[in-house]
Amino acid sequence: MTTSDTYLGGNYAPVPDEITAQDLPVSGIIPAELDGRLLRNGPNPIDGGDPKAHWFTGTGMVHGIRIRNGMADWYRNRYVISDRVSDALGKPATPGPRFGESDGTANTNVVGHAGMTLAIVEAGGQPVLLSNELETIERVDFNGTLDGSFSAHPKVDPITGELHVAAYHWTWDFIRYLVVSADGTEVTKKVDVPVGYSPMVHDIHITETAALILDFPCRFNLDAAIAGHQLPYLWVEDEPGRVGILPLDGSADDVRWCEVDPCYVFHPCNAFDLPDGKIQMEVARHEAMFRTVTNGPSEGDPRFERWTLDPATGTTKEERLDDRAHEFPRHDERRLGRQARFGYTVGFTGTEGPGYKHDLQTGAIEVHDFGTGRATQEMVFVPRNPDAPIDDATNEDDGWIMSYVHDATTDTADVVILNAQNFSGEPVAVVHLPQRVPFGFHGNWVPTTS
Ligand SMILES: [Fe+2]
Repeated sequence: MTTSDTYLGGNYAPVPDEITAQDLPVSGIIPAELDGRLLRNGPNPIDGGDPKAHWFTGTGMVHGIRIRNGMADWYRNRYVISDRVSDALGKPATPGPRFGESDGTANTNVVGHAGMTLAIVEAGGQPVLLSNELETIERVDFNGTLDGSFSAHPKVDPITGELHVAAYHWTWDFIRYLVVSADGTEVTKKVDVPVGYSPMVHDIHITETAALILDFPCRFNLDAAIAGHQLPYLWVEDEPGRVGILPLDGSADDVRWCEVDPCYVFHPCNAFDLPDGKIQMEVARHEAMFRTVTNGPSEGDPRFERWTLDPATGTTKEERLDDRAHEFPRHDERRLGRQARFGYTVGFTGTEGPGYKHDLQTGAIEVHDFGTGRATQEMVFVPRNPDAPIDDATNEDDGWIMSYVHDATTDTADVVILNAQNFSGEPVAVVHLPQRVPFGFHGNWVPTTS
């Protein structure tokens, strides 16, 4: 096993300053319907970074732009104030509950829920409430009802508005399924699914009937912890993966496991129930995780696959959908847990990274080339009419794809807005940012009304 210095070089390197810029320059025309903030989160090590440090453990920084009336009002980037950040910057410690040994780092995703802007992370850190201007306010535990780890990947049921998450912690030999109320006031359901070890569980998905619990052979390793590894989760050889189908109204005894070949999946795309009782989901599949490189995901290119889970047999049909690298899958979240026609992924080849639009019904894949030296981060689909009924799939892609794009030739960043129905075409607008945005993890469009 070794470490990679990838995660401190180029656009992985942290940016030193917190910046506020107003009235950003724009090429093209920002759609008048867009009113909200495009936010994203990622590591930005406050100490500049240790070459051996794990990419996943750097102090978090949230970047955002505010769009309304066809204008880009502002760009801001702010640290999520953990103990390491408050110590380094001489700022007050962030108030709020803690779980375990977490120093308050929340570096993986940022979501809007029930009027709150929350920076979130897995494995022990509590959600961190941010202001609309991205200043850290406090850690939250949903009024005392979150008594352990949360997750960086809540799935919002488009009908109920509830958040569904899978959580883990190195002291737990189970995977915890949680539901948070639509109004964000409380955890309303908790199911501990025993597995007998402590796996890294990055994400979850749901269908209309079930939560899908991801259990892959990358697990807590006590020897690595004792040796001082920052994130002591390592690949376990010769173990399959599996997906647990937990009925939404069920208990741990109701879980039906479907085995998959050894692999690791950070991110499913979407999932839905098939008429015959099986479940279809698309995933970004890594052949392994933290097997040879232990400070970041570097076990070969991830592939986009379709999995058909059969709870009757406990087996999974696995089909590769493309031979190129794909990660950070997203879709129209009005159709979360229901059959969606389109999925969106990003590729990454050195400094360049195209975007892909997948027609999940025909298999067709469109490519958006962001240009020489330009690499997109995770793409977010923003519907033109968020209130359109989710049963109307005829215009599922009527909206925009928004993403932060790094330009290695100028070491700058833009937010690029594509017409999702003209995915390969020229952007409808490009918002030019005052500094680069390091390669990070996840973000979302947070409409002003939510
Ligand atoms: Fe993720």
